[in-house]
Amino acid sequence: MPEQYESPYISHVFVCTNDRGGKRKSCADNDSPSVKSSLKAAVNARGWKGKVRISTSGCMGLCANGSNVMIYPQKIWFSGVMPDDVDGIMEVLEGLVGEA
Ligand code: FES
Repeated sequence: MPEQYESPYISHVFVCTNDRGGKRKSCADNDSPSVKSSLKAAVNARGWKGKVRISTSGCMGLCANGSNVMIYPQKIWFSGVMPDDVDGIMEVLEGLVGEA
């Protein structure tokens, strides 16, 4: 049996960067790797290391709506995310960190 812990993060953000190379719709079509790196830079700039974690995710199953970004444990899901949506996602994270 593995050891089980409570997540150390207030929020864990998963950014799907799956890339099917144009064969089928995938989140990378909307430059999700750029979304991920911008979110990571914004989190680091706010000094949230250890509070908010930005992670790359594989396919989360809603590819036609990509790019997809989900935040746990708050069960927040963003679809149709483009690189210029990062500020809006950061506003939501600011609220979550402020509440914690
Ligand atoms: S490719 Fe991102 S959810 Fe499937």
